[in-house]
This record gives sequence, structure tokens and C-alpha cells, in this order.
Amino acid sequence: MREHRSFLCLIFNLLVFILVYYAYYQHVWLGQYKVQESKERLFTITEFKIPSAPFLVDTSACKIPYIDPFDKSLKHMFRKGTAIKCAVINDVVYSKGNTIFINWKAVNNSQLKNRMKYCKYEVIWIPYNEKRHNDFFMVKKESKEFVDRTDISNEFIRVKCYTGGGLDVYTNFFSFVHLKADVEDRCEKNAIKFANTRQEQLNVMMMGIDSVARNNMLRYMKETWKYLVNTHNAIDLLGYNKVADNTFPNIVPMTVGKFVNELSSFDFDNYNFIWNKYSAKGYRTFYAEDCPKMAFRRRFKIPLGDYFNRPLSVAMENDKTVWYYRKYCVHGRTDTDIVLDYLKKYATMFQSKQHFSFTLFSRLTQEILHETFKADKIYLKFFKDFFENDILKNTVVFFFSDHGMRFGRFRETFPGKLEDRLPFMLIVFPSWFIKKYPEVHRNLQINARRLTTPFDIFATLEHILDFNGIEKKQVTKQRSMSLLHEIPENRTCDEAGILPHWYLIKEHYQIPAGYYRIKEHYQISAGYYRIKEHYQIPAGFITESRNIIKFQPVFIESRNIIKFQPVFIESRNIIKFPAGSYRIKEHYQIPAGYYRIKEHVSSNVK
Ligand SMILES: *[C@@H]1O[C@H](CO)[C@@H](O)[C@H](O)[C@H]1NC(C)=O
Ligand SMILES: *[C@@H]1O[C@H](CO)[C@@H](O)[C@H](O)[C@H]1NC(C)=O
Repeated sequence: MREHRSFLCLIFNLLVFILVYYAYYQHVWLGQYKVQESKERLFTITEFKIPSAPFLVDTSACKIPYIDPFDKSLKHMFRKGTAIKCAVINDVVYSKGNTIFINWKAVNNSQLKNRMKYCKYEVIWIPYNEKRHNDFFMVKKESKEFVDRTDISNEFIRVKCYTGGGLDVYTNFFSFVHLKADVEDRCEKNAIKFANTRQEQLNVMMMGIDSVARNNMLRYMKETWKYLVNTHNAIDLLGYNKVADNTFPNIVPMTVGKFVNELSSFDFDNYNFIWNKYSAKGYRTFYAEDCPKMAFRRRFKIPLGDYFNRPLSVAMENDKTVWYYRKYCVHGRTDTDIVLDYLKKYATMFQSKQHFSFTLFSRLTQEILHETFKADKIYLKFFKDFFENDILKNTVVFFFSDHGMRFGRFRETFPGKLEDRLPFMLIVFPSWFIKKYPEVHRNLQINARRLTTPFDIFATLEHILDFNGIEKKQVTKQRSMSLLHEIPENRTCDEAGILPHWYLIKEHYQIPAGYYRIKEHYQISAGYYRIKEHYQIPAGFITESRNIIKFQPVFIESRNIIKFQPVFIESRNIIKFPAGSYRIKEHYQIPAGYYRIKEHVSSNVK
């Protein structure tokens, strides 16, 4: 009997537990959609100087809408980023300066204890100024055995460690920067020729990372963004547009000043890259990429710079034993850090000599929006190290992306499409330069909210190379315009060279952003509506909850006609609403299902 009672008691407790849990779960579950009352955002971002205006660029000829990267309606699209942790804390072999060391303590703490006895290294090498298949590299000159440390006078090496019986049990790769006599010779000769032709000699460091929209940088790389913008007064180009689809057709305008199809030759080795112009005037050049399979460099057969990491990166890629953690790590180092370390050696070596570098990274950021978070710590550490050690005191830094995310669910939404067009571009000039040339600083700040493109970066690089102050005369509009001059207020997308497909807004009429009641549809083509009334709700962007879809004016064709695009296309109760010519009132049956659109949208939506 007592047993029976305690059994009932247990059942009862279990039921109460399930009820409470269910209620709680329901609460959370429903709470998710209480958009109207919620002030919740994806992250706290009080530290950002986020523009309050509805447009990032708001000029007479061009408007680029501002979309809050943290808007609640986008929340479900984004996952929390996680930090990167390479499996090994202490590498068995590591480098410092031009020396490599064996860390026996780390050996003893690993499975290699009592097995590994010594190491040797080989040189990874390609001929310079010679056409070879872009995956070509040679491994040669195996060194003598070493058990403690050894100095390296080569650029790239592969280290292998062995058991007493000669079985190799460990491999790693390292890069070094040494003076190259022929390069120094060329640089000195060219430098003398152009010695007194310009007012300032600035070094240039260009670092690109694949597929990061400015908005996604604010979401997932905010520490790096804050550091560069708040501590080093980086110019943050809000209106920086890509001009074509993917990496290659955007990097070519930036580095050659032309669209790919405007170049007469498809022999890419003949392209006159901007770094060649720097080289001709006395600069050493550097070109590196992390992932050889993604690389821009795959299209070329001649090394793209005096210092060029492709042979190392191809050799590393081909070795299956060194990679860990989704190919983010090479033993204890990230792949990104390996390239940054090479860049650091280069920038440090030539700190007081003219040098140019171009580096592209794709491994961490190319495929998944939230993986960009992994890159944040890495770049923050890198920039802090560089600035604090004064490595950049004479260098202009361009830290940028080529385009936003080009795949996935988010890319199908209006904000996703918009972000794809708006990669980040941060430019840091040395502080002494900004002080000495206040007009340049003023222009850069104005241009941060003008329509800009990779073509302008090309013109800016040309301007920096021949810097003799800035002319006072009126600047004439061109496709490539130096950002050291003021970009004209009335510049259009056409004039900036943005391909029609990438237009954001063609013309601007004075219609305030906000929420509009849509009365009739206008059958010109899908998605164009005549606006009858609008509600004066604070400008901003969309949000949706169970019964509300917020629309974003996309494209203004003529007075009173705006194309609206629903920003948000998927949730439990709002079913996909394809852009098209629908009459919007109440219940409609559309192919995807049933939904309701309220007529009046309250002002506390935002
Ligand atoms: C590693 O282990 C070996 C043999 O077990 C020993 O001789 C050596 O001192 C150890 N080294 C370190 C740094 O712990
Ligand atoms: C653009 O602005 C310039 C300078 O204010 C002016 O001279 C020019 O006519 C304008 N162009 C157009 C197309 O409005």
C-alpha cells in the first residue's frame, strides 16, 4: 500500500514537472515572436557609432538603405560564433626569428614521447620570373639532423621529425623573410630614379578577407572593427559597393583598375597590377593567400610578388597529416596565423624601406556567416601587435572584403542581398599623415558616406604612390576616383561603374523611409506598387512578427512608385511572400500558403 502511494506520488511529481517545463517552453517559444514589445537585439552594440539615418549613403543621386545588422527580425538567421581552438597547445617544433626549435617538453607531453628522436628540414622552392603550373613546387636539399635548434636561411621549409629507426612521425611548415639581393638591387635603383618626385613615401598593406559584409563584420568581428575605428581612426566606407559578382571580378578592378572583360588579354600574367607600379618606383612587393584552392593566384603562372607564399601553401595543402579542426589549424597554429606571421616578418624586415603587400584570406570566412567570429580574435591580435610595435607608422592599411556572403538562406532575403553588395572597407592612414594633411582627412570622412567602389581603391593607391598633396581644383567625375579627393555628391551608380545588376537605388525622390500602407498594385511588372498613404513612423527597417511584414523600399523608378520588398520571408506564421504583383489587403491565398497583413503598423515596431 505504501509502495503504491509513493509510486503515485512519483507520477504526480513527474506530471507537475512536465507541466511546468511545458509552460516554460511555451513561454519561450511564444516569446520569440513578441516583436512589438521587445527591445531585444542580437548583440549589445552601444559602443558602435551606428548611423541613425535610414540610409548609409544619402546623396542626391544615390541612396543605400541602412539595415541594422542586429535587427530582431534577422536574429533567427544568425548563430553565435565560437572561438577557434587548435588541438595542440604547444607545437613540437616552432620558429622564432630565423631559427626553428624542438620543444622537448611538448614532445614529452605528447604521444611522441620516447619515439621522436631528431628532425630534419627540406627547402620548398619555385623558380621566380618563370612560368610554371600554379600548383608547382619543389622540395629539395634535406638538411642534417638536428635535436635542439637550427638557423634557417631559406624562405620556406618543411620540417620532418623521426624515430630512432628513421620513421617520420611529425611534419610542419615554416616561412621566413630574408633579404633578396636582386630585389634590393632593383628597389634601390628604382628608388633613386623617383627619389624627389613625390612629397611623401607611404608603404601600403592591403588585407582582404573573403565574403564579409560590413554588417557581418559588425556582428562577428566587432572587436577588430572597434579597435581600428575607435583607436586608430580607420575610415569606414559605409557606401563601399562591390562592382561585380564574386572575388576575382572585384579584385581585378581594385588592383588593375579595369573590369576583367576590359582587359585585352586573358593571359593574366600580363595584367599590370598596382603592385607592379609600386615595384617600378622602388617598392618590394608581397603577395600571399591562405587557401591555395580558393586563390585568386590560381589564374597566374608567374609569382605575383617578390615575396610570395604560394609554394608553401600548396605544399601544406597537399600534406594531409598536418591539418586539424576542419582545416583551420596546422598543428597548434591557425592557417590564418601562418600567413599573418609571414606578413609580419616581411613588414618588420622592411619597416623603414618602401614596401607593398597584398594578402587575401578565405578559409575562415568564405562559407558560413558566424565562422567570421573565429577571425575576430586573430585579426585583433594581429593589428594590436602591429600598431603597438610601430610596424605601421609609415603604412596605409586597407582592410577589406570583396563581397558579402553569396550563399545560404540569409542571402535569399533582402538584407542578405543588400549585404552581399556591401563588403567592408576600412582604411587606416598613419596619424602623422592625417595631421599633416587635414584636407585629406576631411575628404576621407566625407567619402565614408559617399558611393565608393574597388575602382576608387585603385585610384587611391595610384594617388598614394605619387602623393604630392591634393589639388584644389574641382574634381571631375570618373569611374576610378581617389578617395583623397572628395567624391562628388551627385555621383551615380553608372558613373561609379557598378554593374546594373548591382544597383541599389537608381534615383532618389523625396519620399521618407518608413512604413506605408499599400493600397493598390500597379501592374507594370512584378513588385511595383503605387503608394496611397504612408504612416510617419520613425525611419528604419523592417521587422516582422506574426501579422506584420515590414517592407523596404528598394528601387525608386518614378515619383510615387516604389518597389517594395518584404525583408523577411520565413517564419512560423508568415509564409514566403515572393516579390511580385500582389494586391495586399487581408487574407490572400498565394502559392506558399495563407498569411495576413495588417493595415496599420504601430510605431513601436522598431
Ligand atoms: C623528455 O624525455 C626525455 C626521455 O624521457 C628526457 O631525457 C628529457 O629530459 C625530457 N625533456 C624535457 C624537456 O622534459
Ligand atoms: C553635379 O554637381 C556638380 C557640382 O556641384 C555640378 O557642376 C554638376 O552639374 C552636377 N551634375 C549633375 C548631373 O547634376
